[in-house]
Amino acid sequence: MTLIAYGTRYGSTEECFDIMINELKDKNVKIINLKTAKEKVNINDYDKIIIGGPINAGRLNKYVRKFVEKNLQTLLNKKIGLFITHLEPVESAFKYFETNYPSKLLDKALVKSCFGGALYFERLSVLERPILKMITKSSANINQINKENIINFAKKINNA
Ligand SMILES: Cc1cc2nc3c(=O)[nH]c(=O)nc-3n(C[C@H](O)[C@H](O)[C@H](O)COP(=O)(O)O)c2cc1C
Repeated sequence: MTLIAYGTRYGSTEECFDIMINELKDKNVKIINLKTAKEKVNINDYDKIIIGGPINAGRLNKYVRKFVEKNLQTLLNKKIGLFITHLEPVESAFKYFETNYPSKLLDKALVKSCFGGALYFERLSVLERPILKMITKSSANINQINKENIINFAKKINNA
């Protein structure tokens, strides 16, 4: 069984899962939003665990960080795939693995991948909207979800 444990602030990370689910050979996949999940999930029930979420101001979503911190010892005995969603180019975003996930888990992970991301201005808070407009130099929505990276990630999980 496969678990996808994720964080999101504005929902775009969830767009990656339709692509991933289609590619995963295991059809017994449980997806949990680490902030809103009501039921308690026993991670011991899963042999493959996919973990990730968005980068905001250089930091990985805090619910993902907490999940990893709390379950690190168990996770070290699982088949692990790690991902981030982001808008910086992959070459500069990849460093966020080193700065946000424990090195033991990074060493253990079978795959680490940058999925790209999306930004929908209408979902941002009134404080964030002008800041993101300044950074992106536009107020147009952005969708840079990298389908190819998600498919390759799923293939590596299939082969694990
Ligand atoms: C307030 C804010 C800060 C962000 N900071 C970064 C950042 O430092 N680096 C980056 O690559 N992307 C950054 N992003 C882009 C998000 O990581 C990207 O839009 C992601 O897809 C959001 O996922 P979510 O909709 O699931 O929350 C930021 C987005 C917002 C709204």
